[in-house]
Amino acid sequence: MNIGKVSKRVENVLPFYVMDLMAKAKALEESGRDIVHMEVGEPDFPTPRPIIEAAQRFLELGNVRYTEAPGLLVLREKIADYYWQEYQVKVSPERIFITPGASGALTVALAALLDEGDEVLTCDPGYPCNNNIITLFGGQPVPVEIGESHGFQVTGQAIAQSWTTSTKGVMIASPSNPTGTMISRSQLEGIVKTIEERQGFLISDEIYHGLVYEQRATSALEVSDDVFVLNSFSKFFGMTGWRLGWLIVPEYAVSAANRLMQNLYISAPTHSQYAALAAFDQTTRTILHERRDEFKCRRDVLYDGLKKLGFGMADKPQGAFYIYADCRAFTEDSYNFALELLEKAGVATTPGKDFAASCPERYLRFAYTTSMERIEQGLARMAEFLKANAR
Ligand SMILES: Cc1ncc(COP(=O)(O)O)c(C=O)c1O
Repeated sequence: MNIGKVSKRVENVLPFYVMDLMAKAKALEESGRDIVHMEVGEPDFPTPRPIIEAAQRFLELGNVRYTEAPGLLVLREKIADYYWQEYQVKVSPERIFITPGASGALTVALAALLDEGDEVLTCDPGYPCNNNIITLFGGQPVPVEIGESHGFQVTGQAIAQSWTTSTKGVMIASPSNPTGTMISRSQLEGIVKTIEERQGFLISDEIYHGLVYEQRATSALEVSDDVFVLNSFSKFFGMTGWRLGWLIVPEYAVSAANRLMQNLYISAPTHSQYAALAAFDQTTRTILHERRDEFKCRRDVLYDGLKKLGFGMADKPQGAFYIYADCRAFTEDSYNFALELLEKAGVATTPGKDFAASCPERYLRFAYTTSMERIEQGLARMAEFLKANAR
């Protein structure tokens, strides 16, 4: 018997600190307080109507069974078309796997690539699940510290400096969570070249593509065919709860991804796949582009507002729906500051501790996944709080 013991690997999996804050926010709301939520990493818009209607038509038939493990061929063909239209790259549907969210894509990619003890370079700050999932598959995450001066994004040079004999590959995300910053095409070319010279793998998380405001996002597939690209219907397409994403793998990993999909998931949720068939329709795209424009307006108001309040602001983030703000002017500890903002100002944010090993105490992540009116309310509340607590 092994009662009361979990695996060592799971012991190393860290919790989301923001969950404590969310629990406190909920308790405050139950006691009658009004909270402006800027901690939430999902769009506040409902799933576009054409997607809901496609799901309803499918559910009406009542035949909700598994699909083939890689996902519906017709959906994979639509995704292949999308890559041609958006990025002018040809991807054969055989290389595309429909997964339960980008989270499912991450597990399949890392399970396919990692052996015990393999090191993977990840961005710090970055999406925390990457390090945890690497650990779960026996790998060793190596967070590479990247500061504001590099737009919080790795370069070929930083990768070269951090590479050891145990390094197997690199994970990047552009636009990034938590910073919203992007990797330019030339920077991406430098990253791919550095990794190819060392015969490593690249996993490019492109989940925030579509939510870019000034410049277009480059897919790693435009630079090389030999990369793992993950994306999702969650963010740009507004389908977080449907749990649907995709993974594009190089030719050599098709069989591995197929076997992993069969064993880990059997298939991604069937009704969600049928719903997503409407995600690329022109009517849906029009809705999504209007929402993207609204996110851009919110970003501008929040960015200017935070700057005016005295937060240290890097260059304006070009994508996703996050601003990673330096709060050193107000505190030495962003976690306690987030608690204070919640309790005293009624504004919920996510502390840097959730995203970074280096200098987490300096930063707060603000998500503009709430209405313009609420963002303005949040800024006004913070202004009042900061005035009353001036150092
Ligand atoms: C950078 C990044 N990758 C992956 C995910 C996982 O998304 P999902 O599983 O909903 O597609 C998230 C979710 O917040 C994210 O921010």
